[in-house]
Amino acid sequence: MKIATKLGMAAVVALGAMSPAHAADIKVGMILPYSGVYAGIGKEITRAFELGLEVFGSEVNGRKIVLVQADTEGKPNSGLAKTKKLIHSDKVDVLVGPVSSGVLAAMRDTVHNAKVPFVIANAGHDGISGAKCSPWIVRTSFSNRQIVRPMGKWMYDKGYRNVYLMAPDYAAGHQMMNHFKDGFKQAGGKIVGEEYPPLQGTKDFGPYLAKVKAAKPDALFVFFAGGPAIQFVKSFGAFGIGKDIPLAGAGWLTSPLYIKAQGEGANNIIGSANYVPSIDNPANKKYQAAFKAKYGRGGSEFAVQGYDAARVIVEALKVVNGDTSDKKAFMDAVRKVTFDGPRGKFRFDQKNGNIIQNIYVYKNIKQGGAITASVYDVIKDVQDPSDSCKS
Ligand code: PHB
Repeated sequence: MKIATKLGMAAVVALGAMSPAHAADIKVGMILPYSGVYAGIGKEITRAFELGLEVFGSEVNGRKIVLVQADTEGKPNSGLAKTKKLIHSDKVDVLVGPVSSGVLAAMRDTVHNAKVPFVIANAGHDGISGAKCSPWIVRTSFSNRQIVRPMGKWMYDKGYRNVYLMAPDYAAGHQMMNHFKDGFKQAGGKIVGEEYPPLQGTKDFGPYLAKVKAAKPDALFVFFAGGPAIQFVKSFGAFGIGKDIPLAGAGWLTSPLYIKAQGEGANNIIGSANYVPSIDNPANKKYQAAFKAKYGRGGSEFAVQGYDAARVIVEALKVVNGDTSDKKAFMDAVRKVTFDGPRGKFRFDQKNGNIIQNIYVYKNIKQGGAITASVYDVIKDVQDPSDSCKS
């Protein structure tokens, strides 16, 4: 009798352990900068991912989705060390992040070899949509060339002939400037100078802007994001060359995340971006309203990438019924996810796992005391052009 009761209890305990209510959590490793020059972007993506789980579901078949945050500091070495910790000690089911192309390049082989599903929510390193693509990797953000390449021809068509370039001295900075150059030179334009200040620790852009002023270009085209973008636009405003030398750039230069901190220098800047808050569709209205209700302000393009990453993961988990043990089945489901999102129809390019999306060319205009992006042009359904992904 005693034995029978014990056995009965053991069976109940065992059944309890297997029932959905006690199923193990699904761990999402947030590999993002929570300190350093890109900390604001890392926090924004995390906020939006958390919002995405609230909106689309934070539990699938009894398994709760939980976040494990790891600070890359925006540095390749730390990013790689934290990636290894998330994979081998925390045993995460899926990775989300990073912000920097340098960190992404450092992590890629470790993630690929460990076969960990990986949803890139910002870093644009082109190789990941080309020769370094992987069946374990998709991207809800962009590739660097997807955003910048259309701008070379666009600026030539608008009459600019001699352009000066500036970007931080790391992978994303060089890739973006090279793509701008390709498009601009092919159209017939000339690059009259280039500057690559260090990503970390450039406080004073004055000496670089003095060189730009001396070269008298038709325009200055730049890539800066996060802390350096705030610093750069403030310096540009203070330097007072905006009247003579129009400033254009990859759109993050004046992201809604930090435009308020940039002051008057942000006015009149031309940019290209994968998202503008004014996109007119029901999913975008819902996203903006939900973001505002939770955080008291509108969501940025960085946030959209995090919000969509959460949705991709939740939708794919539903397809596999919350079972992440067959990683290939989960990744197949991830690649097939499609929905009407804030950027319109969301889908991955089946060739390389990179999102296909519209690119918006805009100009900042001051209206009613606030500087906001006014859309000039929409380049539809831009795909990463690489054909070197063989996975
Ligand atoms: C990158 O390093 O790939 C990167 C960082 C910040 C951005 C865009 C791209 O806003």
